[in-house]
Amino acid sequence: MASSSSGIILGIESSCDETAAAVVCAGETMLSNVVFSQIPIHQPYGGVVPELASREHLRAIVPVVRKALADAGQTYQSLDALAVTQGPGLAGALLVGISYAKSLSFALDKPLIAVNHLEGHIHAVLLEERQKGNHSLHFPVIALVVSGGHTHLYLAEQREQSWSYRNIGRTRDDAAGEAFDKVAKLLGLGYPGGPLIDKLSTFGDPTAVKFASPQLKHRDRNDKSMEEEDWPRFDFSYSGIKTAVLRYVETHGLQAEIETRRNQMSRISKPTVEDYRSACPQATLDLIASFQRTIVEDLVRKTLEASRNYEAATLFVTGGVAANNELRRHFELESHKQGIQVYFPSRSLSTDNAAMIAAAAYPKFVDKDFAPMDFSAEPALVLR
Ligand code: KG4
Ligand code: ZN
Repeated sequence: MASSSSGIILGIESSCDETAAAVVCAGETMLSNVVFSQIPIHQPYGGVVPELASREHLRAIVPVVRKALADAGQTYQSLDALAVTQGPGLAGALLVGISYAKSLSFALDKPLIAVNHLEGHIHAVLLEERQKGNHSLHFPVIALVVSGGHTHLYLAEQREQSWSYRNIGRTRDDAAGEAFDKVAKLLGLGYPGGPLIDKLSTFGDPTAVKFASPQLKHRDRNDKSMEEEDWPRFDFSYSGIKTAVLRYVETHGLQAEIETRRNQMSRISKPTVEDYRSACPQATLDLIASFQRTIVEDLVRKTLEASRNYEAATLFVTGGVAANNELRRHFELESHKQGIQVYFPSRSLSTDNAAMIAAAAYPKFVDKDFAPMDFSAEPALVLR
């Protein structure tokens, strides 16, 4: 096994609806990054269908991995290690990536590294900063991982090569991206809702509808695992705003308009933002913009509160929702006011990809922290 070499790692990611493979050298040079998105397959259902996701991963995994190797100018033999997402995610989807990575590792006699998907999102930021030559981050780092499945705040520290994480906040119900997707579905917009709401919001007045900012007055009584040292918490909650949008739709009699839009859009094979925009009256665009503003302000306020509490001078904002334009603008503005440096991945590395998995695997490669051959998918894996 070639563990003394330069650290050319093939990453594989299949935790949700993207089949992805990438080759990254030493956690800092992305040689290739291939993402096969299943969005068109799940679109008609308005959400990810787990069985379809597994089937599509099975179809896509071999060509996606081959393309990642070819784009990187690598061969199976030239790799130093393989890395794969162990969890969290959909069990059947994760198992496709894991089984394939195990077979490759066994056949090639190369080490295999199991990576937490959430740690991957954090390393997407690190990968790109290192690639730009930025090796001097101030610690501790507060990392907000905000996606369709997660809204987590971590206090992250680096000692030598190894990283440790402490969860200081998470959503008590819906993830922020899930709220974007559910509200988009409710309003007769396409799937996934986040990118569309992002674009449509630019045409609406974000101050038009006043939503109460999400409040959490009590400790999470369902979570017995939290010790005193895990306090204070910076938890989130986004199911209330989704209900508030539903109530707004009902009290303002928007159901007929939504139904008409749904029918109109279903007759267009690939509706554009302009199609959606012209199917939305101004009051609906205002509603969309106000919904987005409420979520963005809550994410920014709690993350900055956490950074003040832990005296962190550096913020990472990553995961699918980190692609949101207004979220980026607000974070930049508010962090600047507090003298905090905020880093985002590029938009293509904000959403799920395998470059982040290969990058997160590098410190483990150096530590020879390899996965045993009997490791399996962990759909609810936590990050520590
Ligand atoms: O990280 P990701 O690709 O998958 C998960 O790990 O969940 O995130 C996907 C989520 C979806 O909920 C999608 O609607 C949201 O990220 N998203 C966005 C934007 N782009 C993707 N949300 C808001 N604004 C965006 N521009
Ligand atoms: Zn993700």
